[in-house]
Amino acid sequence: MKALTWHGKHDIRCETVPDPQIQESGDVIVRITSTAICGSDLHLYDGFMPTMEAGDVLGHEPMGIVEEVGGSVTKLKKGDRVVVPFTISCGKCWFCERTLFSLCDTTNPNHKIAEKAMGQSPAGLFGYSHMLGGYAGGQAQFLRVPHADVGPIKIESDLPDEKVLFLSDIYPTGYMAAENANIQPGDIVAIWGCGPVGQFAIRSAWLLGAGRVIAIDNVPERLAMARAGKAETIDTTDANAYEVLMEMTHGRGPDSCIDAVGAEAHGTYTLEDIADKVKVSLGLATDRPAALRQAIMSCRKGGTLSVPGVYVGTPDKVPFGALMNKGLTLRTGQTHVQRYLAPLLKTIEDGTIDPSFVVTHVRPLEEGPDLYKTFRDKKDGCIKVVLKP
Ligand SMILES: NC(=O)c1ccc[n+]([C@@H]2O[C@H](COP(=O)([O-])OP(=O)(O)OC[C@H]3O[C@@H](n4cnc5c(N)ncnc54)[C@H](O)[C@@H]3O)[C@@H](O)[C@H]2O)c1
Ligand SMILES: [Zn+2]
Ligand SMILES: [Zn+2]
Repeated sequence: MKALTWHGKHDIRCETVPDPQIQESGDVIVRITSTAICGSDLHLYDGFMPTMEAGDVLGHEPMGIVEEVGGSVTKLKKGDRVVVPFTISCGKCWFCERTLFSLCDTTNPNHKIAEKAMGQSPAGLFGYSHMLGGYAGGQAQFLRVPHADVGPIKIESDLPDEKVLFLSDIYPTGYMAAENANIQPGDIVAIWGCGPVGQFAIRSAWLLGAGRVIAIDNVPERLAMARAGKAETIDTTDANAYEVLMEMTHGRGPDSCIDAVGAEAHGTYTLEDIADKVKVSLGLATDRPAALRQAIMSCRKGGTLSVPGVYVGTPDKVPFGALMNKGLTLRTGQTHVQRYLAPLLKTIEDGTIDPSFVVTHVRPLEEGPDLYKTFRDKKDGCIKVVLKP
């Protein structure tokens, strides 16, 4: 089959690789009809994420048609149309029982590597390094899906792929980010990053009762999309978001702050931001946490900080003293996607939201390598890429 494979920093190829096979009785094989590129994939493309190996198949936002079914699978049959969550979860362990699906205790065969880095291992993820399981990803013609009775959601309606595909990741991720932000009716919510995750966090913040949503970025078309989602915006090209937020909130700060940027923030205002750039390029630092720092400094006393943005290691100079002394609540994590599949599918079916608003590029899989670059560089108005294998 054809698949997008990782061969090092900024080296993604479309290659022929072996077709996946059923390995466990709980597996299914899905023929992929649509598969997206995520901001998280950029952390692989830019070489931030350790334990990638040459030839690894990328991708974790896929959907398609079930082609083959393992012997113990009861909920799916050949021909079913499914969206596959990026988290691989067993459905039975202590964590899955508590719907903490991205923390599943049993799906990372390489948990020893993750334990060294993090103390305990989170769940295995599709196409997201050997430390997180070494599973082949879904930017491919076919995908092996373990624990198929727990993961994929069946799409019974004829809604087009682009409307349901993002149940795999970014819609639940934006929604969980807003849920984690503890939004009370009328609250002011500030969101760093107007990429796809930020866009879904904006729309979810409204669903959860926000009174004002303020979105922060420096990319014009992403800011415009945020405004189309009824957010006020701050363009950081010529403004310091902290100062503007303090003005907009009469010196109090937003009640909830969401960092939808993560490890590769661009920063221009502080010495720390410049130091991040130098240190990361020399391999002396793991992350560039400019947005995280600013979110902590901006959040009102006693407010909540929600971090869906992915961090890799030990970000430097995070103002933990400010977080502690201002009494902030911090909530974060890879999304527990399975928890959100059914309720969020309902919001698509009943017309509350049409997630396809975020799509700017629909292209053949073969164009994937170029589109990684286009998406990373935010060229050609690129906000979200959907590939057709
Ligand atoms: N927690 C999860 O389960 C989960 C799931 C999906 C994605 N993510 C993460 O969410 C983050 C966003 O994903 P995405 O797909 O939207 O990525 P993206 O790269 O398209 O968007 C990031 C946006 O942040 C903006 N930005 C950069 N520095 C900034 C700063 N200092 N202030 C304000 N904005 C800044 C960029 O211009 C860009 O528009 C990534 O870190 C990704 O890995 C997490
Ligand atoms: Zn993702
Ligand atoms: Zn589990």
